[in-house]
Order: sequence, then C-alpha cells, then structure tokens
Amino acid sequence: MTTLQNKKLVVVGAGSGIGRRIAVDATAQGAQVISVGRPELDLTDEATIRAFAERVGDLDYLVSLAADHANGPVTELDRDAVHRAFDAKVIGPILLAKHLAPHFRPGGAILLFSGVAAWRPAPGRVVMAATNAAAAAAAAALAVELAPLRVNALSPGIVDSGVWDGPGKDSFLTAVAERNPARRVGTPADISAAALLALTNPFLTGTTLHVDGGGRLV
Ligand SMILES: NC(=O)c1ccc[n+]([C@@H]2O[C@H](COP(=O)([O-])OP(=O)(O)OC[C@H]3O[C@@H](n4cnc5c(N)ncnc54)[C@H](OP(=O)(O)O)[C@@H]3O)[C@@H](O)[C@H]2O)c1
Repeated sequence: MTTLQNKKLVVVGAGSGIGRRIAVDATAQGAQVISVGRPELDLTDEATIRAFAERVGDLDYLVSLAADHANGPVTELDRDAVHRAFDAKVIGPILLAKHLAPHFRPGGAILLFSGVAAWRPAPGRVVMAATNAAAAAAAAALAVELAPLRVNALSPGIVDSGVWDGPGKDSFLTAVAERNPARRVGTPADISAAALLALTNPFLTGTTLHVDGGGRLV
C-alpha cells in the first residue's frame, strides 16, 4: 500500500462536511492538501477548470465531492437546476479529468463521489439517482481510458455531514439508522477512511466502493 506522505491531494467541493474531514485526515497522514470550494473552482465553468488545472501543476490524487441538488417531484423540476446538478457531479468531474489527466504523477488516482440514491431510488430523488449513477459509470469508463491512472467512485449512504441539518434531522437519521444493516448512519470519518483507502490502494481501479452501512440493500 502506498502512503499519503508527501503526496499532493486536491479536494474539490471542499465545503462539503465529508470533504473537510478528508482534508484533515490526509493532512494528518502527511499529504499536501489543496482544498478548493465553489468560489475558487466552479464546476459549471470549463474556463475556470482549465485555469485551475494550469495553476495546480503536478499532482498525485484528486477527490471531487461537489454536489448540487435538484430534488422534488419530477413534474416540478427546473431544467436549470437539473443542469447544475449534472454539472457538479458528472460534467464538471469529467472536465476535471480532461484538464488534469496530463498532470498526474505515476501512481496517481482520482476519486469521484456517487451516492446511495443511485441504487436505492426514492420519490423526489430522480436527479440525485441519475447523477450518482452517472458518476459511478464515469469513474469506470475513465479508469479504462486513463489507465494506468486509477479512477474509482465512492458511494456513501446517509452520512451526518451537515447536509441534513435542519428541522426533522433527528427523526430522519434515527429512522435510517434503524433500517440500515449497520444500525447507524455514517460519519464523515467513516467516508474519509474509505476515500483515503481508495486513493492509496494500487490495485483498486474502475470500481464503486459502497460505504453505506448496507443501506442500498434494504
Ligand atoms: N451526506 C450524505 O448523506 C451523502 C449521501 C450520499 C452521497 N453523498 C455525497 O457525498 C459528497 C459529499 O457530501 P456532503 O454531505 O459532505 O456535502 P454536500 O453538502 O453534498 O457538499 C457538496 C459541496 O459541493 C459544492 N458544490 C456544489 N456545486 C458546485 C460546483 N458547481 N462547483 C464546485 N463545488 C460545488 C458545494 O459548495 P457550496 O457550499 O458552495 O454550495 C458543497 O460544498 C457529495 O457528492 C454527496 O452527494 C453524501
């Protein structure tokens, strides 16, 4: 297993609770972490992605956690919101691969973020299901095309990352925990540990790591 010592890791979507934890854990393990949020790198804009790639130079690892949400009944979906959701999770990460692929050092890896909604659809989550499934498919296809650069996806289950904060949070998370085979919801630390494993295991590529407490099965 390779280590993160002195490796350059770019975390995109760093405002995410899970992204912040990945940055902290990777830094603790000796990585040089570059965290970028939407203000510095908006995945809806290819010119910004191209300029970022030129600025960042050589790197070892990339994680993209960006997600924009277009939830609600399909009959009420807003086309622009749907487009932004695909930009954040599918089109933007593909453009990151386009512009950053030449900059990866040997042994490098990309990790895209999918999510349990792709495998456990629910009403009002059509766009979430489609973007997460597309992210997993893109990771597999990129792994084949960009080899030996490794590319994987990580599919979290319901994680108490801050995204669920608000009215009804406790009852929602309790219900999920009771149903999950793991009998709990995820923490950012659970997901971070799996993300760093996916980046550093040299025989892992083209796959989706389900870190969901078994939530996609029930
Ligand atoms: N938490 C869960 O239960 C769960 C479950 C399944 C999958 N996931 C996936 O895991 C990942 C992390 O989740 P999370 O809960 O920690 O965080 P999250 O709240 O989903 O964070 C998403 C981040 O993406 C950023 N973003 C949105 N559009 C962007 C764009 N166009 N360009 C750049 N950044 C953009 C947001 O920035 P702003 O702050 O500027 O809006 C936000 O910081 C996401 O991909 C999510 O879909 C999470």
